[in-house]
Amino acid sequence: MSSLLETRDVTVRYRQDGPAAVAGASARIDAGEALGIVGESGSGKSTFAKVLAGVLAPSGGEVQVKGRRWQEVKRRDPIRRTVQMIFQDPYGALNPWMSARETVAEVFRFWERQSRAQAVEQAEALLAEMGLSKGAMARRPGELSGGQCQRVGIARALACSPDVLIADEPTSALDVSVQAQILNILVGLRETRGLAIVLISHDLAVVRYVSENALVMYAGQVVERGPTADLLGSPWHPYTKILMDAIPGGTGDLKPVRNEIGDGHPCCFAARCPRLQADCQSLSEEAGPREGDRVAHCMHPLPERSEQIEQRAQ
Ligand SMILES: Nc1ncnc2c1ncn2[C@@H]1O[C@H](COP(=O)(O)OP(=O)(O)O)[C@@H](O)[C@H]1O
Ligand SMILES: [Mg+2]
Repeated sequence: MSSLLETRDVTVRYRQDGPAAVAGASARIDAGEALGIVGESGSGKSTFAKVLAGVLAPSGGEVQVKGRRWQEVKRRDPIRRTVQMIFQDPYGALNPWMSARETVAEVFRFWERQSRAQAVEQAEALLAEMGLSKGAMARRPGELSGGQCQRVGIARALACSPDVLIADEPTSALDVSVQAQILNILVGLRETRGLAIVLISHDLAVVRYVSENALVMYAGQVVERGPTADLLGSPWHPYTKILMDAIPGGTGDLKPVRNEIGDGHPCCFAARCPRLQADCQSLSEEAGPREGDRVAHCMHPLPERSEQIEQRAQ
């Protein structure tokens, strides 16, 4: 593994004998890449994001950042700066007692061991770049709007000079009018800083806007991966199709994720799948169509794919 950030077969169980919140998920993020992770609530996206960010140790599998295992990286190791995260709840993610300026300055003091004055100066420059006024910089989270708090969260992450920014539903809690502004900031950061972005969303339209590659998760598993345009243009996995149809204006009907892992069927989507057939019982880890970087984990992917599975099986 030699990419910026990579996981192989990551499994997470919150309880030793409990269900897997993430089950055998692999992902790879290269420098400057934007990867979307999409799936309904409960599909394991946030859990996977925390594993990628090195804040949650997986129960099984491997996570590496720049070729080093996260498990071996200590809190003050500069490699921690490489991956930073922003969260869905922009208020909750910030210290309620600290002004925007102090929140960001604190990071410069921690990593760069700067004087207070230097740290404040750098923090102000970064917050201004994120579009905050001087007045807003002096305010605490409770006195800022959701969108402003999210800008502070992004500035705090950038103060670490990361190579990857993991954004977990960064716009879900924001007014529609503010959502596009925050997404545009993320898109801009790739261009200006060459930052890689992992954008997590239940909304395929959001992922499509920011990232050229995507993973689709269901019940802790990656059921399809590939270039976002291809996934949207012609989904292979029946679940990807259902998610797509759920985009506003689509025809889909989303039911809650049912975590079927452990119920005996090898396909995590079996209980909901409109294309389920008897031979799905023989779904193996490697089964499903594959074309370059594109993979779907399905015995009966959407039309015209069945010959490919047969070819692979031979
Ligand atoms: N701290 C936790 N303790 C126990 N179970 C959790 C915890 N966090 C998440 N889960 C469970 O793990 C599964 C995946 O959750 P999560 O990663 O939050 O999914 P998503 O972000 O896609 O909504 C869900 O079944 C959820 O209930
Ligand atoms: Mg989540």
